[in-house]
Amino acid sequence: MTATIIDGKAVAAELRAEIASRVAALAFQPGLAVVLVGDNPASTVYVRNKDRAAAAAGIAARTIRLPADTAEAALLATIAALNADPAIDGILVQLPLPPQIRPRAVIEAIDPEKDVDGFHPLNVGRLHEGHPHLVPCTPLGVMRLLAHAKVPIRGAQAIVLGRSSIVGKPMAALLINADATVTVAHSRTRNLAAECRRADLVVAAVGRPELVRGDWIADGATVIDVGINRTAEGKLVGDCATAECAASASAITPVPGGVGPMTIACLLANTLTAALARRGLEPA
Ligand code: GUN
Repeated sequence: MTATIIDGKAVAAELRAEIASRVAALAFQPGLAVVLVGDNPASTVYVRNKDRAAAAAGIAARTIRLPADTAEAALLATIAALNADPAIDGILVQLPLPPQIRPRAVIEAIDPEKDVDGFHPLNVGRLHEGHPHLVPCTPLGVMRLLAHAKVPIRGAQAIVLGRSSIVGKPMAALLINADATVTVAHSRTRNLAAECRRADLVVAAVGRPELVRGDWIADGATVIDVGINRTAEGKLVGDCATAECAASASAITPVPGGVGPMTIACLLANTLTAALARRGLEPA
């Protein structure tokens, strides 16, 4: 079987355009605040891209840059001001944070109704209870790609590689809610290859370049590659050996141009969701 390539760039562009047209029809402008502490180069690029995408969708984007030596109390005060600001519908604090700041304290300080990352324990609980409101952007983007590619989820055997709070755990919860049978594998899993071979759907989010090999993939399975890794030669590769996996898979996401572009598009979707819900309006 030769796999269909799932074009995340195109699906994300479609979603961004749909959000822009919904935003244009509103009687108010949704507002998104992105907080960056320090000058981690990767975070700086992400934050700039988030800011641009929000502006292009008609969302009022405000980036707040704080120095790397910002005290936790000062960041919490910034968050309290954003929580109280009626013009702000979404708050995102870019991770990782400098070592003097406890990420949990920050995540728990964000108003759950403005938590466009979906990291607050209330939103995590809502997702795991099967009543999601604001859902982490990357796994939400994966669900949208699966829907776009018409990948059947109900009753499917799915495996999620990775158990992070940002991707693995919320991904597993979304797949369970969609009636898949879900295995969550991680660095201590025995015989990972055999676990993968049983799966109709493999979602890889471990940050290990080309870990998943072609002979781990069952004939006709779907492969979703969340990894973005830079090799010693400077090339971007995913967590899956794409060409090998594509020989067995029925559909696969490329890196780059697969899951990556969906994350920012889903941040815009979450900002719109939060803006509508805060005003008691129907979801988009
Ligand atoms: N750092 C890496 N991914 C993310 C994300 O999805 N949200 C935030 N806030 N920080 C991140």
